[in-house]
Amino acid sequence: MSKRQKSLIALLSVLLLFFGFVIMRIGVKPVNTVTASKIPAGEYDPAVWGQYYPLQYASFKMTREESPSPTGYGGSIIVQKSEMQPEILTLFKGMPFSKDYGEDRGHIYALEDLRESKRIGPASKGACITCKTPYVEQAYREMGWGYANKPLAEMMTNAKHPVSCASCHDPETMNLKITNPAFTEAQARRGIDVTKASREEMRSFVCAQCHSEYYFEPGTMRVVFPWDKGLKPADMYAYYSEKPNGFAQDWQHPDSKAPMLKAQHPDYELFATSTHGKAGVSCADCHMPYVRKDGQKYSSHWVTSPLKNIEASCSSCHTQGTVWLEERVKTIQDQTFELQHMAGQNIAKAHQAILYASNQPDVNQQELAKARELVRQAQWYWDLLSAENSMGFHNPSQALNTLGQANELAHQAIQSANLAAGIKMF
Ligand code: HEC
Ligand code: HEC
Ligand code: HEC
Ligand code: HEC
Repeated sequence: MSKRQKSLIALLSVLLLFFGFVIMRIGVKPVNTVTASKIPAGEYDPAVWGQYYPLQYASFKMTREESPSPTGYGGSIIVQKSEMQPEILTLFKGMPFSKDYGEDRGHIYALEDLRESKRIGPASKGACITCKTPYVEQAYREMGWGYANKPLAEMMTNAKHPVSCASCHDPETMNLKITNPAFTEAQARRGIDVTKASREEMRSFVCAQCHSEYYFEPGTMRVVFPWDKGLKPADMYAYYSEKPNGFAQDWQHPDSKAPMLKAQHPDYELFATSTHGKAGVSCADCHMPYVRKDGQKYSSHWVTSPLKNIEASCSSCHTQGTVWLEERVKTIQDQTFELQHMAGQNIAKAHQAILYASNQPDVNQQELAKARELVRQAQWYWDLLSAENSMGFHNPSQALNTLGQANELAHQAIQSANLAAGIKMF
């Protein structure tokens, strides 16, 4: 072997070692510390799963952290929403959300916050556990939807663990899976078989099974997603207008006597029709970004505001820099909040205008009924955004469009109420 050949081999070996190391570091797929898991089916304790997947478990435990969002909206601390929007107290008059409506916090608190919510009482039903604990899987296997109509207290004694590993993973394969039967049923009615979903779809579906709008079927308390006509605000309103499964209203507003709907966190619905949703980005891309520890790449299970780690959450796709990105989010949220606050105040006025009209002796009943329908619709559009968790970021243009409609419908409701009361309007 010549000197030249020798040095070439030496150079090649160095290069091989170097790139081998780089490839190991980058790793196309995240590295699992343990390949074959021995976690039995029905094991809901995240600490047991954590013995096999310590990195994911350590990051999951970070959901215990309580801190505000850098933009001042959302955040992981319990703040009453009515502090920033006192009109909420008028809008939800006569129902539990006027007593207690706090911001959400981390997954690890799901059961604790349910237990302590002033919205639950002795009459509360088992259906409430559906989005709080992996135990829902066992409850549904043993009782079908029967668990939903059992007393909540009884279900809570069995539900020992909050949203955790078994809510999203099959213990044997570690593949993502759906545990909420309401999501599987709703998707099936839209022609989507969730057991055949791609990995990319599952990175949003596992979140959508809980972060979506729903109602309880009267009599059975079965959880139903109102998606049969589509996911847009108007589609869901049209669905509710047909009184599905006998469901006509969540409550009657004590002032306007309008039959009202209460929207619940439609994070998935808003996201699904957004720029990011249409571009194939998933919830997990932003909320569970890849991070590294000791040379291992894994999905962060600290599911929280992506703004707490913009670099990992956004910069895998965006090159604008963290300052620019945070500023964009803050601008979108400020603009959404301004319109949401405005619409909410106008809807509160509409309830009062209808109350005033209904107290007039010669009130026009037909016009009054119209005003009630308009205020119901206005509040539905407002509430979709108010109950949604990103203050408009998940779908900025649709957020402003929906709130613009809420505001216009509130004005129409006031106009109808005034007409009903005999007040001339121009
Ligand atoms: C809210 C749903 C959810 C919960 C709860 C959850 N995971 Fe995950 N997990 C995911 C998603 C999404 C991925 C990314 C999967 C993919 O891209 O295929 C993932 C990936 C993983 C992976 C594959 C390697 C990686 O890091 O990407 C492991 C291992 C894992 N999770 C373990 C756990 C453990 C252990 C727990 C409980 C402490 C847990 N997960 C709780 C959603 C969840
Ligand atoms: C089994 C139901 C369930 C699943 C699955 C689920 N969540 Fe949640 N999520 C909740 C509940 C309930 C809360 C509120 C907990 C509280 O406030 O006590 C919550 C809270 C959150 C928060 C607020 C955290 C904070 O720090 O304020 C974020 C962000 C979030 N979820 C995102 C996701 C994403 C992304 C996924 C999918 C990877 C997902 N969730 C899957 C039920 C679920
Ligand atoms: C393109 C990135 C992106 C995607 C995709 C995304 N989110 Fe978000 N999400 C955000 C941002 C940014 C916020 C605002 C955080 C803040 O105000 O601090 C947010 C806020 C939230 C919050 C409230 C967090 C808090 O601090 O209270 C929840 C819950 C949530 N998202 C769930 C979801 C779910 C479920 C999906 C999928 C259906 C999803 N997100 C998809 C970026 C994203
Ligand atoms: C997986 C890739 C991906 C991730 C992660 C991602 N984005 Fe995007 N984002 C896109 C794509 C694709 C578009 C569409 C426009 C484009 O092609 O640039 C977009 C568009 C946007 C827009 C303009 C459109 C709109 O809806 O206002 C903003 C603002 C934005 N992203 C902010 C963020 C922020 C903030 C984060 C992190 C919380 C984030 N993105 C995470 C891929 C991503």
